[in-house]
Amino acid sequence: MALYAHIVGWGKYVPERIVTNIDIAKFMDTSDDWIKTRTGISERRFAGKHESTATMAIAAARLALDRARIVPATVDLIIVASLSPEHIFPSTASLVQDAIGATRAGAFDLSSACAGFIYGLSMGSAMIQSGAAKVVLVIGSETVSRMLNDQDRGTYPLFGDGAGALVLQAHETPGGVLSTVLGSDGSGAEHLSIPAGGSKLPASRYTVDNRLHYIQMNGREVYRFATRIMGKVAKEACEKAGVGLDEIDLFIPHQANIRIIQSASKYLGISDDKVFTNLHKYGNTSTASIPLALCEAIEEDRVQANDRIVMVGFGGGLSWGASVVKWGVPMPYKRRTWWYRMIRWFVYRWARVQSAYRKTRRQVEGMVDERQGKDEDFLLPQKDRSKPKNGRSPQISKNGSNPETQDLPAEIAAPNPAETEDAALKVEKPPK
Ligand code: ACO
Repeated sequence: MALYAHIVGWGKYVPERIVTNIDIAKFMDTSDDWIKTRTGISERRFAGKHESTATMAIAAARLALDRARIVPATVDLIIVASLSPEHIFPSTASLVQDAIGATRAGAFDLSSACAGFIYGLSMGSAMIQSGAAKVVLVIGSETVSRMLNDQDRGTYPLFGDGAGALVLQAHETPGGVLSTVLGSDGSGAEHLSIPAGGSKLPASRYTVDNRLHYIQMNGREVYRFATRIMGKVAKEACEKAGVGLDEIDLFIPHQANIRIIQSASKYLGISDDKVFTNLHKYGNTSTASIPLALCEAIEEDRVQANDRIVMVGFGGGLSWGASVVKWGVPMPYKRRTWWYRMIRWFVYRWARVQSAYRKTRRQVEGMVDERQGKDEDFLLPQKDRSKPKNGRSPQISKNGSNPETQDLPAEIAAPNPAETEDAALKVEKPPK
């Protein structure tokens, strides 16, 4: 029997801090008028000290699961798409898995810049359609503000932070994700990148002094690429899904630049009332932009059962992707009673307790194994391990902190997902 990947839950998180164009024009050679007319952006959100890619992803994921009325323990797979992940590794997805108590789920991060969310949606729906998973959480989450060079007016005003999450569930009712089309052209890689921090240019004084850990972009080239690809890939996805362009009910493009969006909708012949935009409020939130826009379209009653929704992303790589979704499995919103909210509160506190328990158990098992000499064939004795052969002392101290980053505020050195618990639980404004 054929399986279909339906979107049954959605959630978003945006930081409270609003940064307007006027705020930016105070320290940069730009103006509100330039940014608005060239991009359509009026303001964006920047994460506060207590927020990061994982904490925002967790908050959005919890809302999405709540909307779907799905217990975290039944999630099979968590995919987080991000160009600003919590760390190079471990994956942000693993941190989300632990924080929400998705104890049976696999988890991985996906890197395809701003096209990442569509790639995630494609992977998630394919897992469901193949029968390998029943419930998949796809998240786009970004703290791009920490990757922005405040001396570069060509990038700084364009981006913002936020997160959006969707829950995909297997159903036998036809509909859900009808098609996805993915593409890449690595010959344009140099036009949009963060040059340092990877294996080619690891962090060093040189890379820091030269601001190579920030986003660098050839705006003109990316603009040209985006206007060429967006309409084309959306059309391909519609053809694959057997949906005529005149049958599109809602177009949700990556929110990068209003002029790029207008050019794509013109190519597709879609009228303005079928195009959803919110970039004036949030700027380009990269992988979060499509799920954030979808969540807001639902909040504004722009999505009805059986609607055909086309989503298109593009970005660094260069890469792109589009997906056609038939909105199905209507889920009438039921008011959350106080006891439901209490159970939810308890479930996430319980996830924290379980996480602490697993951590302690691992430590105790390690100690017991060492005492019993179980690992002696594989491990060096403790005193030898603490002194590497080159004579340098180990970088990581006993409590897990790195002495070289000890001056960093704790929340930057080691963000604690549990801190957003309250933020996530506070967002009680019910989704529709
Ligand atoms: N304020 C004032 N002037 C500016 C600013 C600014 N913030 N930025 C650039 N300028 C100046 C330039 O220096 C240039 O001046 P010059 O003519 O004296 O050299 C002039 O404005 C025009 O610059 P252009 O780059 O030609 O401006 P354009 O109309 O192309 O707009 C923009 C620039 C907004 C960056 C546009 O090219 C664009 O949106 N590109 C696509 C960006 C995008 O979609 N990125 C997606 C990223 S997705 C991901 O994976 C991260």
